[in-house]
Amino acid sequence: MRILGIETSCDETAAAIYDSDAGLLGHALHSQVALHADYGGVVPELASRDHIRKLLPLVREALALADSKPEHIDGVAYTAGPGLIGALLVGACVARSLAYAWDVPAVGVHHLEGHLLAPMLEAERPGFPFVALLVSGGHTQLMRVDGVGAYSMLGETVDDAAGEAFDKTAKLLGLPYPGGAALAKMAEAGRPDVFRFPRPMTRRENNGPGLDFSFSGLKTAVVVALKKLGAEPDAGMRADLARGFEDAVVDTLVIKAVRALEETGLNELVVAGGVGANSRLRAMLAERVRARGGEVYYPRPEFCTDNAAMIAYAGCQRLLAGERTSLEIDAVARWPLDELLAV
Ligand code: KG4
Ligand code: ZN
Repeated sequence: MRILGIETSCDETAAAIYDSDAGLLGHALHSQVALHADYGGVVPELASRDHIRKLLPLVREALALADSKPEHIDGVAYTAGPGLIGALLVGACVARSLAYAWDVPAVGVHHLEGHLLAPMLEAERPGFPFVALLVSGGHTQLMRVDGVGAYSMLGETVDDAAGEAFDKTAKLLGLPYPGGAALAKMAEAGRPDVFRFPRPMTRRENNGPGLDFSFSGLKTAVVVALKKLGAEPDAGMRADLARGFEDAVVDTLVIKAVRALEETGLNELVVAGGVGANSRLRAMLAERVRARGGEVYYPRPEFCTDNAAMIAYAGCQRLLAGERTSLEIDAVARWPLDELLAV
């Protein structure tokens, strides 16, 4: 079964072709980062308009890369939520219309299901069940994954997402939006422990099951540290702050991910979402998880952030299982992941 996947939930427009026998055949992506940079964040109306401009050319590009023609496509998968509603509707309209014109089924895919199944596109892939750490700009969740669609929530953030904390702190340090990757780069030159920030909610005794996260206090701790410095910090000081912040987030994510493995008795951890591209997080998780006889799986870095390959893959699994979305064009801004049906 050969699937066209479409992703337009936020500020990346993407199309990909996945084949259940041959694997990923082609993928094309346009990032809107430059479009939103002046505003310090994503402007939903600009995002929707740009998706309209870019999506069909990207679909053509993905088809060409996959050496495929519309008549080779057996189904269309699109991100139906969660995300920016206007942006989602662009993808839903185009996907649903192409499927109608080509007389093939369509399926609406949950964006986070796409992220957490993205490691399945790699040669080194996990087997079910596994624990997934989803760390993106909008979400920070630990899930138990028993199969496609069989997800149970183990813990999640009570306030900011990890990526959001990276982006807000990057802004405080004078970096352009979205600053996560730039902050990580800045931290490379920083010294550890010059600034020691809290590891929020990691002390087990105070926090019940202890798998939830809270990152908004960390951003406040950086604000306080900046105020204490008084004058405008120089490049060295900002690098130390970036390092202190990154270490605190990474430590916290690692503590919770390892705790989730302990509590579920599982050995395999999948890390998905944009923050999964962070190399310090990758190194530390690999060390800690392997030390207890487990293994960590990631998508390749370009599939950690938003892309259509993961949507084509997840949609393919659902279409193979017989799932179909009706002709009605619909998308949802909010959609809890554990409400999905197992296939
Ligand atoms: O999954 P994603 O592309 O979009 C959402 O669905 O949210 O994740 C984007 C997030 C942004 O907050 C970005 O700053 C963060 O991932 N990010 C990083 C790194 N690369 C991207 N955060 C830390 N270190 C990185 N290397
Ligand atoms: Zn995402």
